Amino acid sequence: MGTSGTSTGTRKGGARFGKALIDAATLARRVEQLGKQITADYADREILAVGVLKGAAFFYTDLVRQIRRPLVVDFLRADSYGGRTSTSGEVRIVADVDAADIAGRHVLIVEDIVDSGVTMQYLRKLFLARDPASLATCTLLDKPTRRRIDVPLDYVGFKVADVFVVGYGMDRGGRYRNLPYIAALDEVQAP
Ligand code: IMP
Ligand code: MG
Repeated sequence: MGTSGTSTGTRKGGARFGKALIDAATLARRVEQLGKQITADYADREILAVGVLKGAAFFYTDLVRQIRRPLVVDFLRADSYGGRTSTSGEVRIVADVDAADIAGRHVLIVEDIVDSGVTMQYLRKLFLARDPASLATCTLLDKPTRRRIDVPLDYVGFKVADVFVVGYGMDRGGRYRNLPYIAALDEVQAP
């Protein structure tokens, strides 16, 4: 029975612990590098880091702890999938940040993955309309082959191929977010 979390195997209930596409140590190393890069880039600016719930929550909390700058934490919740594996093309803000806090701030949007680009583009427009001093985008994963909108990404953790991934915050129907690594959905889903 696979209970170690990093090995391939099966457990009672059907779901599998899939082979990692990006393992926990590799994630931690890359997140540390991104934190250093952001720390250097924001030498004299306080960051308002906006995490996009729910998917980016795990990446976000790891990342902000690697940023050695004054930083304010905030979140919003966006939904564009409605439980499917590709975007509906329509983004819904389920819970917003306090919009009054954005003007004059150095906003960094933190996403889990940019696929079609619809969500990130929507968020950029939303924040730009709120008059920030600067706006930058950070995503753990980038799936460039799926892009429909050419959205500027300032910080990218990893480029990935066109496979649906889960783990380290990313889900399929709410599941698998707690995997400490990233795996292809096909690897973890019960056959
Ligand atoms: P986009 O609007 O098509 O760029 O999709 C972005 C959002 O879709 C991300 O914030 C994720 O929540 C979700 N998403 C896209 N690809 C995947 C995936 O492979 N696994 C899990 N969620 C994904
Ligand atoms: Mg998301």
